[in-house]
Amino acid sequence: MPETQKQIQALRDQLNDHNYRYYVLDDPLISDSEYDQLFRDLQKIEAENPNLITEDSPTQRVGAEPLTSFGSLTHRMPMLSLANAMNEGELAAFDMRVKKGLDTENDIEYMAEPKLDGLAVELVYENGLFVNGSTRGDGITGENITQNLKTISAIPLSLRMGEKQIPPLLEVRGEVFITKDGFKKLNQNQEKEGLPPFANPRNAAAGSLRQLDSNITATRPLSIYCYEAGTIDGVSFETHEDFLSTLKKWGFPVNPEIQKVTNVEKMVAFHRNLEAKRETLPYEIDGTVFKVNTTDQRNALGIRSRSPRWAIAGKFKAQQATTVVQDIIPSVGRTGAVTPVARLDPTNVGGVIVTNATLHNQDEIDRKDVRIGDTVFIQRAGDVIPEVVKVILTKRPSDTKKYLLPNVCPSCGHEVFRPEGEVVARCQNLSCPAQVKGRIEHFVSKTALDIDGFGEKLVDQLVDKRLIRTVDDIFKLTYDDLVNLDRMAEKSALNILEAIQNSKQTTFARFVYALGIRNVGAHLSNVLEKTYVGDMEKFMNVSAEELEAIDEVGPIVAETITTFLLNCTNTDVIESCLSLGIRLKKVEGPKSQLLKGKTFVFTGALTQFSRNDAKEMAEAHGGRASGSVSKKTDFIVAGPGAGSKLKKAAELGIPVLSETEFLNMLK
Ligand code: IVH
Repeated sequence: MPETQKQIQALRDQLNDHNYRYYVLDDPLISDSEYDQLFRDLQKIEAENPNLITEDSPTQRVGAEPLTSFGSLTHRMPMLSLANAMNEGELAAFDMRVKKGLDTENDIEYMAEPKLDGLAVELVYENGLFVNGSTRGDGITGENITQNLKTISAIPLSLRMGEKQIPPLLEVRGEVFITKDGFKKLNQNQEKEGLPPFANPRNAAAGSLRQLDSNITATRPLSIYCYEAGTIDGVSFETHEDFLSTLKKWGFPVNPEIQKVTNVEKMVAFHRNLEAKRETLPYEIDGTVFKVNTTDQRNALGIRSRSPRWAIAGKFKAQQATTVVQDIIPSVGRTGAVTPVARLDPTNVGGVIVTNATLHNQDEIDRKDVRIGDTVFIQRAGDVIPEVVKVILTKRPSDTKKYLLPNVCPSCGHEVFRPEGEVVARCQNLSCPAQVKGRIEHFVSKTALDIDGFGEKLVDQLVDKRLIRTVDDIFKLTYDDLVNLDRMAEKSALNILEAIQNSKQTTFARFVYALGIRNVGAHLSNVLEKTYVGDMEKFMNVSAEELEAIDEVGPIVAETITTFLLNCTNTDVIESCLSLGIRLKKVEGPKSQLLKGKTFVFTGALTQFSRNDAKEMAEAHGGRASGSVSKKTDFIVAGPGAGSKLKKAAELGIPVLSETEFLNMLK
């Protein structure tokens, strides 16, 4: 094998081994940054040798072209569902049926598994290589989501060698899900981008898997645990236990909670234990699954029309209860959303004492007609905040009245604003104490003023010590303010001051985005920048009509912006920032039309300019920069380490330029 190829293979093996240790063994050996370094090394060699790139290289998980729709894939073997046992009695009844079906009085061995609350998928491997994957669909035919599944690092692109041979055809089934932590982070991000949050981890996982652009899926924290087989050619298993342990050896993540139980008592004990442990697991589950362990016994039992006779899902106890609403209290979150919360007579819901439940918003209160004094049904689903489901009208006292949320913010008393067509009322006051921390974190974030080293812990301390009340206070911080904080070294204090100083040279778009005006995300800030060309004064005096005249600005956004700017506290903060040294670089109109109508994709580690500079240069000369390679791409500009995009460009016959060649085009 030539030297380069050996080097590439060695890097791929290392990356695959580390991936395996991380996702399957849960025992990583190296840090994320060391992993990233290996990954970049591989990308670099591959970019220099695009002919050596293979489909299963770890670098090939992203970069696919967005689809216009999903194709369909028919499952070789239908993907069945599970019958439910609603309580322990029904679990015991299942065990009896199994024994009867097998005509035995002996104890039956089951594999006991958590029932993950995600989406079932099928992964197909031919001769050890991942070839395609699909959703369950109607059980017979699902959607072809191969590109999206490839982005999930926990899914092996090629199988590891084990003691069992690699089958020519292997279909593995499992559940794709998002952890509770991943869900929280994802929703924080949605909020930052001005996008609606996902209702729960399951919806978030479903939405992420059904993206037509797999580059979006790649940014979502998707995980998988595998738990069943479809068709397997050439290899058979005596037990499910044996199958699961082989799955791990082949490189598939398998849930570590899975246990073998050897009789019905142990089955019930597993169910109780898991239910008690439910809250502490890092992902959501909605029950247990018990599967007959022995393959022969499974075959003897067979299937019904839609579910196997050899498996059952044990449902957890209903997480519902009734209680009385003592009071309804509006609360304001870090993003200014005012949410009515019902204070309840404390009550036990599935093992947790609940004292508060969300009523979501005024529309929901109206729809359910929840009043103070009402007896209500509440429910708790997984990690989500308990909610009021409905009122038990027969128990309503005679003296209740309809509840209306006050129209001022419960934290700062400022008038709240509810844009037409939206259900949530918000406080838009930049100095609202309930939102200060959230607003500051947003203000300093990467896409906003990008103040390095200004993390959540620092914000907490600065706000708690009253060193910052509104975002402009950041620019008033002194060395003494910082150095007296907990765990703040002199050097760090100086670094932060320098980062604050540097952040003052910014753009109109970044600054407007940083203000955190509802509905004004990064994209819209750029749109506004084109109209206001850095003129804050003009922007601050804008009318709703003028805003609506801008392409991409609708009446709701226009109204949100003008109400924001009508609030004197907000304009005071903006002016204070400007007087403390914020300078908004003017963006210029196009310098030339040299690149008119040309689309560029910049890839690899650019060395002569940043990706942002590159985009600005292209646009300044009438061109466009895009993130993904397609038939519409005119040129690729590749720096060191370029990988899949370069390969794609070669396939599509798109010319590849060096950075210098690109700069020469502008002359
Ligand atoms: S086995 C014939 N195992 O539950 C067996 N399913 O109601 C079918 N699920 O569509 C699947 N955790 O989405 C199995 N450990 C587990 C599971 C599990 C969750 C889901 C899966 C399936 C549904 C069946």
